[in-house]
Amino acid sequence: MAEKLIGKLYGIGVGPGDPQLLTLKAHRILSEVPFVAYPKSRMGRESYALSIALPHINQEKQELLGLFFPMTRDQEKLEREWNEVVSQLWQRLSQGHDVAFVTEGDPLMYSTFAYMMTLMGQLHPEVEMEVVPGVSSVNGAAARLALPLADKDDRLGIIPAIDDREAMKAAIASHETVVFIKVAKVLDMMINILEEMGLADKAAVVTKVSSGQERIERDVVKLKGETLEYLTLMVVKNK
Ligand SMILES: C[S@@+](CC[C@H](N)C(=O)[O-])C[C@H]1O[C@@H](n2cnc3c(N)ncnc32)[C@H](O)[C@@H]1O
Repeated sequence: MAEKLIGKLYGIGVGPGDPQLLTLKAHRILSEVPFVAYPKSRMGRESYALSIALPHINQEKQELLGLFFPMTRDQEKLEREWNEVVSQLWQRLSQGHDVAFVTEGDPLMYSTFAYMMTLMGQLHPEVEMEVVPGVSSVNGAAARLALPLADKDDRLGIIPAIDDREAMKAAIASHETVVFIKVAKVLDMMINILEEMGLADKAAVVTKVSSGQERIERDVVKLKGETLEYLTLMVVKNK
């Protein structure tokens, strides 16, 4: 069989934490590709996506490729750093090697993979790409809470929590269910809002859902003053 000239880039959703929540397709690709790329933290923190993927990888035969993801607001620096990420991937792809890039949850939901995919398409349109969807943290949390997210004509919102009380209140008022992602940095404000709206008992907060470090809190008022991890979401069922 002729050798491939250019490798394929896979965006693999590894799910929210439990390595068994990977799709069969993600498992197959992760166990076959020569390179598994993952977002690496400059602070030395372990990659959550990689920790989920590791049980599916044979490190004696496959190579891990940690890529530093840009964390700056400086537009020029950002572009330079993103180009560097794409160039590291292109180095392997241009030699005919397939690369699987792992993302926690789903790769196309609030994920930097989407940006990388667009940039790769612009800089190297000859690269074939395939996205393998993953179980998102939203679905993972609903399952662990045994909470039906939506039914019939219910409106379901997935909203990044921000420091804007009125916008957050409006989001709750206009959906039967809201999943607030990125909630940790405004947790106290969100709990105050729930109390004001009389909805504190209609919410739950979940951290690192389905993983070995999972935390579920149904009594959200108890969390006031706590600093929770970035991988935390809040579900509010206003019904
Ligand atoms: C940039 S978004 C990534 C979403 C991810 N692509 C997905 O499909 O779930 C990061 C936010 O998603 C939520 N999140 C991601 N993984 C989570 C997990 N395992 N447990 C709880 N929340 C999670 C948190 O709110 C976190 O701040």
